[in-house]
Order: sequence, then structure tokens, then C-alpha cells
Amino acid sequence: METRGDGGGTLSLTGGTRLEGRVEVSGAKNSVLKLMAAALLAPGTTTLTNVPDIVDVDIMAELLRRLGCGVERDIRASVVTIDVPERPHHRADYDLVRRMRASICVLGPLVSRCGEADVAMPGGDNIGSRGLDLHIEGLQRMGADVVNEHGYLVATSEQLRGADVWLDFPSVGATETLVMAAVLADGRTTIDNAAREPEIVDICTMLIAMGAHIEGVGTSTLVIDGVSELKPVTHRTVPDRIVAGTWAVAAAITRGRIEVAGADPSHLSIALEKLRSAGAQVDDTADGFVVSMGDRPKAVDVVTLPYPGFPTDLQPQFIALNAIADGAALVTENLFEARFRFVRELARLGADVRTDGHHALIRGRASLSGAPVEATDIRAGAGLVLAGLVAQGRTDVYGVGHIDRGYAGLVDDLARLGGQVVRMDDAHREGPPMK
Ligand code: UD1
Repeated sequence: METRGDGGGTLSLTGGTRLEGRVEVSGAKNSVLKLMAAALLAPGTTTLTNVPDIVDVDIMAELLRRLGCGVERDIRASVVTIDVPERPHHRADYDLVRRMRASICVLGPLVSRCGEADVAMPGGDNIGSRGLDLHIEGLQRMGADVVNEHGYLVATSEQLRGADVWLDFPSVGATETLVMAAVLADGRTTIDNAAREPEIVDICTMLIAMGAHIEGVGTSTLVIDGVSELKPVTHRTVPDRIVAGTWAVAAAITRGRIEVAGADPSHLSIALEKLRSAGAQVDDTADGFVVSMGDRPKAVDVVTLPYPGFPTDLQPQFIALNAIADGAALVTENLFEARFRFVRELARLGADVRTDGHHALIRGRASLSGAPVEATDIRAGAGLVLAGLVAQGRTDVYGVGHIDRGYAGLVDDLARLGGQVVRMDDAHREGPPMK
């Protein structure tokens, strides 16, 4: 989970209908937040398009406003414009960082633009410890002085200088922090074992359009030659591969047929291949792909890894699929140790899942039975909604505020595809499920 949100609201699902039709996927949450932070690197007006209608964009907009930017959002047009001053402020407050861990992505741009960044430490969250050591060590190698003062990470540097950085793990967040710091540093920075996610490619593409010199984009070695200034641009956010992958699983689990538009199947190769192994038919279309499933899915093993490996953000959805599949599957989680917490909720629906460390053994059941369950983070919420779509009777998924952070217009899309789903606010719910 990317945040500790308030999680309000409930989705009430009645399982058993096939989902059929077309959904349009918008820009990626995990990209747009970083693109908004990257805007800080250039004074003037940056325009982002294909911006998803999710709460986290509002939180990032608020953060940027407090840093002195003017931010306008046109939700209908999916556009955000960010007016960046010559001298932005450099403090990211705890009240925003605690609501959205991704706020940490202002660290790199602020230290390189302002010579100082005071960013609240995010603290604990729902999917594990998620350290910042790789961000900090990389900035230190570039000459920044980084200390932890009163719960804030304070990074200072008159002028960052290029350095050779080797990441112990290809962290998405650390790669982004260091790329954004390096583009305005003095000299050449080499980041080895860099993350290669499509969202990293997206931010590098935007930075290059802004005037940055970056080589090796999409590979695990990024070579960045610092420039003295960048200019603002208009940039279209990469499609959300995790939302697209969630709809792909929705088609398979309900034995339906969903055309996923506005998506790039090449960003989901392994996940779509897994669905084929489960028995689904997956075909590319002009602007996405279509998934259809006639029979009960077959169990599929999954191992999460950094891109191009299987994404951890689709792991709960595949556990849900395996819960009703024919056979047993082993799911191995290599990124976030606490991500199996949601299987306790899935068990309330009758799923047979045993976890041992970072492995989960799922023995598929012919059916699940509806029950109240609680979403503890975005992707756990998605997994529970998918399970609720096939569980017999009614499933109430509490904590929908978490799901809202990653899935724009989920209820409307589900309803249009034939799902039986109603959203209730907290005032109408019957009380939290027993734990
Ligand atoms: C991003 C995504 C998240 C996704 C994850 C992995 C956003 C907002 N979130 O998270 O949805 O699940 O990538 O694809 O983009 N680590 C350290 N030290 C560090 C940095 C990371 O130990 O300095 C560890 C983390 O604890 C974790 C692993 O590295 O175990 C992966 O983290 P990372 O790739 O950085 O993920 P995020 O950028 O936090």
C-alpha cells in the first residue's frame, strides 16, 4: 500500500455475473505522481495529460501548492497544469506525506532545484517497512548532506555532483529520486541496477523532453549528464498497467470478456501470459487487448519480481484468481513482506490459502461465499473486489477509500460491464466486520 488513507466507504457486491464489455484505462497513478514532482525541476508551466481521476493526484497537487506552485486540475479533460515559481519552497509536511507515501518523490527535485529538501519521513505503512536507505545513500554519493531531524529527512547540497551509484535492489522510488537529482547535477551520474518499470521510462521520457541528457532508458544502467536548466513541457502519462491487469483478471475470474482500451499489453507480458496459462484467450487490439475466458481458470504459479518480472501490484488479484481455480498454486512475494496480510480477508470468503514467509499456497475452491471483508490497501482491495465478483451471495468490501486511490471510476465501470455493485458511504454501513 502506498498510503495510510482513511479507507472510508463500502462496496457491496453480489457475485456470479460474467463481466462483458469495454473499459478505458487512464494514466498510471505510479507515474503521474512522479511526473508532477518532476515539474518542480523547471520554472514555468508544465502540462500533464491522461491524468487519472484519483485522490492521490489531489494530495500531490496540495503538496505542490504548499511548495509555492499554482496547480489547476481539469478532471473531465484529464489534465493537470503546474505553474512552478523560480524559487519553490522546500518543505513537504507530515500531514501530506503520511496520507501518501509517494510524496517522498519531491525529495530529488527539491534538493537539486533548491539546494535543500525537508521531507517528512513516511513512517510505517501497510505493506512492509519500505526503507529509504537507497534514496539517502544515492544522494549522499552525489554530495548531499542528509540527516533525520525531528521526523524530517533534511537533505542539503549547494550543488549536487555526478556520481557512480549502484543500487542494492532496483528500487522504483530510489531510481526516480536519483534520476531527478542527477538531471541538474554537475557532471555525469551512472545509476547501476536501476529500476526498469514503464513508469521509470515515462519519467525519463518527460525529463529528456525537458532538456535532460539521459541514456540507457529502459535498461538497468542509466547514464545522466547534468544540465544547468530544464524547460517545462506538455507530457502524456503512460497507461496504468496495473489497472489494465486488474481488468484482465476480472475477465478471467468471472469467465467473461473484457476489452481493455488505452493500455499497452507489452507492459503486461508476463501477467497476460499467466492468464493464457490459466486458460484465457488474450489478443492484442489496436489500442489495448481483450481477455476472454470460457471455463473455470486453471491454477497458475506466480513469482513477483522487479520489472520485467511479474508485478507485486497484481499479486493479490492473482491470489483471488487462484482461489477459485482448478488446482493448487504457489505464489511467491519478493518485494513487500506484508502483502499477504490480505489473505486473512480472502479466507473470510472461504478461500483456502496458507502462507509461509513469502510463499502462499492456494488450493482452488469450486466456489467462494460472500462475507464482509476489509481492504487494507489498494491492491488488496482490488483482490477482494475480484473475489467478491465470483463469491456466492453478498460481499461487502470495507475501506473503499483505499481502492479509490488507485482505481478511477471503478464502480461505474464494474456496473457497465454487468457487475452487481453498489457503493455505500460510512453512514449506511452496518458496522465493521469482526476481526
Ligand atoms: C513503487 C510503487 C508500488 C510498487 C513498487 C514495486 C509507487 C507510488 N509505488 O513503490 O505500487 O508496488 O514500486 O513495483 O510508484 N527498498 C529499500 N530501500 C529503499 C527503497 C526501497 O529497502 O531505499 C525496498 C522496499 O522496502 C521494498 C523494495 O525495495 O521491499 C521495493 O521498493 P520500491 O521499488 O522502492 O517501491 P516503491 O517505489 O516504494
